[in-house]
Amino acid sequence: MSSYANRWQAVAVEVSEGIAWVTLNRPEKRNAMNPIMNREMASVLETLELDPGAQVLVITGAGESWSAGMDLKEYFREVDHAPEIAQEKVRREASHWQWKLLRMYSKPTIAMVNGWCFGGAFSPLVACDLAIAADEAVFGLSEINWGIPPGNLVSKAVADTIGHRKALHYIMTGETFTGRQAAEMGLVNRSVPRARLKEETTALAKVLLQKNPIALRAAKCGFKRCRELTWEQSEDYLYAKVDQAVFRDPEQGRAEGLKQFLNEKKIKPGLQTYQR
Ligand code: COA
Repeated sequence: MSSYANRWQAVAVEVSEGIAWVTLNRPEKRNAMNPIMNREMASVLETLELDPGAQVLVITGAGESWSAGMDLKEYFREVDHAPEIAQEKVRREASHWQWKLLRMYSKPTIAMVNGWCFGGAFSPLVACDLAIAADEAVFGLSEINWGIPPGNLVSKAVADTIGHRKALHYIMTGETFTGRQAAEMGLVNRSVPRARLKEETTALAKVLLQKNPIALRAAKCGFKRCRELTWEQSEDYLYAKVDQAVFRDPEQGRAEGLKQFLNEKKIKPGLQTYQR
């Protein structure tokens, strides 16, 4: 177990049995993302990327909230009168971890949505590869309720996950929905009763831990990138990802998987991972 106790102020990190539990940790403010948390999350992600003990990341929230979105006081009001260039920096730091680092993170990521998830919190939610919510979690694009349209990449993220009509409905009404509805809409992979959330997330993380990490990275980044490419470019790019994975893989998973199926006849790759 790696120890990161008290290393960051607004984020708590614990690494155990290959899983890095990253907890947004301002429960008294419902884990609203303030500039300190944004800077710290970049540091957390960069640190864990180099920690071989952290193979799968789970992002969750302390207390009854996943995240109440951007901090309305520290991210908005207190920055409103800062010089324009300082406002840019604050925005850039938010996008840096929520999109640039997280979306193409080199390790698999799971959002474990334990409670409230509002506004700007949809950015890291959608940037994570997978998401499991508590049935009881409450989601909402609340920006319209306090007088702004969604910023950052929130609207793009919901268009990409729940589709045109539903996205516009929630963007324009600010209505909330539950974890169970989020699963039906495809915003999260599934929802489970809150009492089972950690157990189910751990089980999912353990499935990912069995897979070849180089192949996982190539698979998830290839999938995400090719959504924005043409069919021709995608074919070329995805084959390049396959070749890159084979070239970079220290455990030579491709050769091993073929050997275990074709020669040794000890696995069925349709049903299980090759033995690492
Ligand atoms: N930004 C800044 N502070 C926030 C916050 C946010 N997004 N969300 C909650 N807080 C603060 C509250 O101001 C309050 O601070 P205080 O104790 O100093 O008064 C504290 O967190 C607790 O919030 P409270 O509203 O009393 O908690 P609740 O459990 O009754 O309600 C929410 C939880 C999430 C429903 C409610 O806080 C809320 O609607 N937050 C705003 C959500 C939002 O619109 N986010 C979009 C931002 S892009």
